[in-house]
Amino acid sequence: MELPGTQKINGKSHLEIGGCDAVELAERFGTPLYVLDEALIRQRCRDYLREFRSRWPEVFIAFAGKAFMSTALCRLVEQEGLGLDVSSLGELHTALTAEFPAEKLVVHGNNKSEEEIEAALSAGAGWVVIDSLPEIELVGECAQRLGRRQKVLLRITPGVDTHTHDSIKTGDFDTKFGILPIHAPQAVRQATAMPGLDLRGYHCHIGSQLFFLEHYRAAIEAMTRIAADIRAETEYAPQELNLGGGLGIRYQWSDRPPTVADLAEVICPALAAECERYDLPKPLLMLEPGRSIVGDAGITLYRVGVVKEIPGVRTYVAVDGGMSDNPRPALYGARYEVIVANKAEAEPTMVVTVAGKHCETDTLIRDVKIPPVERGDILAVPSTGAYTYSMASNYNRLPKPAVVLVSEGQADLIVRRQTVEDLVAQDLIPERLNRR
Ligand code: LLP
Repeated sequence: MELPGTQKINGKSHLEIGGCDAVELAERFGTPLYVLDEALIRQRCRDYLREFRSRWPEVFIAFAGKAFMSTALCRLVEQEGLGLDVSSLGELHTALTAEFPAEKLVVHGNNKSEEEIEAALSAGAGWVVIDSLPEIELVGECAQRLGRRQKVLLRITPGVDTHTHDSIKTGDFDTKFGILPIHAPQAVRQATAMPGLDLRGYHCHIGSQLFFLEHYRAAIEAMTRIAADIRAETEYAPQELNLGGGLGIRYQWSDRPPTVADLAEVICPALAAECERYDLPKPLLMLEPGRSIVGDAGITLYRVGVVKEIPGVRTYVAVDGGMSDNPRPALYGARYEVIVANKAEAEPTMVVTVAGKHCETDTLIRDVKIPPVERGDILAVPSTGAYTYSMASNYNRLPKPAVVLVSEGQADLIVRRQTVEDLVAQDLIPERLNRR
């Protein structure tokens, strides 16, 4: 068990993160609790900037807010000099509430509403990534109405199959996202003809939780070939190329994901070679990592409740959260590990299945080997910094857990726990139901 970032096992045989004892965090803030390791998030932001800046002349890295977003995280990302990719009105509003510099926002969405487009443009968002042919006009007209010249990229599907889970692969032609290469020349003509649009280049995003970097090479080959074909037809050459996100992280101890340096070592030489091959100018290289910035910086703490043994079959260990705070096992069959935070060095002798508390079989982790546990023990599930809080629900009216940011022995609440009062705050009772 190789612990990431500042995680370690302390003298009390407790899991520690950011200099804070995980058992004390659970006591102080309650469970379930998402805990984020500030130092590791900062390190990952710096890794991206360092590894790409040392290999490419001009680089822009935007954190993909869909992986985890809160106003505090926007601040952290801003301090580290990254931009931010937002893909809904809610994400945009969060960024603006945190006073994130609008010119560093990259606005996404395969079906942006007019309200979202207008809000993004009025705020002065840096880039809008146009996802479809009809959107060219929508963004162009909105920009003209507001008297703006909006920087835009066209999202193009490069036709790369990434062998990741079906729900998170997006580079193939059969996807709702992006513009098909056959329609790209028409999209370029249309976009360059609109006075409200400043077409800077192209975008692609081939998928998420990727371990095989050759897929990036394939995407670069496809995108530069498409760019060269479009130039032959329209004389337009891109100044900017956004390759999206996608770098995978370790969920299970046996996973060996590539590092950010490995990613840069594939992307930069491949892009240089392809630009040379087609005589294209070296573009501003943009990336939008989400999971690889926050994923393994997060752990979730749960308290053990019922332990149910079915002799000869299995033992269920039920915790006080479940698919509402982490839907990934249910949605993607995602696998996680478990650390018993209050007996982190005890011998793992039992194979158990960790279950949630929802009114269905919400298995969090099947068949995982841990030390014997009992009611009150604290389980830590590592690598839950990305796509957990951001995908959380109130199923069974469970309040969403709090999020705590830890650093050098200090723990700060960055999202407070929902209360049961929060859950009924939006409910309304029509007058006719008041008659008893
Ligand atoms: N850029 C675009 C346009 C994206 O659609 C995404 C992720 C990213 C960047 C960031 O990708 P990352 O570096 O995080 O892989 N809920 C799924 C993941 C969905 C990813 C959606 N798009 C999961 O829990 O695995």
